[in-house]
Amino acid sequence: METVELTGADKAARYRELLPQLAALLDGEPDLIANLANSCAALRECVTAASWIGFYVARGDQLVLGPFQGKVACVRIALGRGVCGTAAAERRTLIVPDVEKFPGHIACDAGSRSEIVVPILRSGAVVAVLDLDSYALAAFDDIDAQGLAPIVELLGTLAW
Ligand code: SME
Repeated sequence: METVELTGADKAARYRELLPQLAALLDGEPDLIANLANSCAALRECVTAASWIGFYVARGDQLVLGPFQGKVACVRIALGRGVCGTAAAERRTLIVPDVEKFPGHIACDAGSRSEIVVPILRSGAVVAVLDLDSYALAAFDDIDAQGLAPIVELLGTLAW
């Protein structure tokens, strides 16, 4: 995946544009896997700083790899482990500017330098997390967190 740096204003605008596109893409389609796969592809077009974008779906006390764009990744992550498992357990978005400084970070791709993980909630329960990685340090910030918030809210309405 190519990585391109955008200014903050550009990033915010891109997320704003993505939301109605995604809503249109998901509208009328009940299949969860198809919707997650297309959401991932749409996010990839939008978030040019990302080297990997994908979903980990909550299954009991684990997160299991779902649709993604990027290199082959680890399949199962225990709740509370790694950035994904921590974000799910704490039900909050985690922005990790330097993955080497996050204790317990799970390195699926040795090239990854920074990461953002956003939990997806349905009826108050974590049904999945959306994970974005980058080969650049500090690729993600509050603008990404704010831009992704309405997107995961929309994804939370899918048929989990
Ligand atoms: N780095 C994540 C694991 C998933 S991969 O980045 C695709 C983590 O620490 O949870």
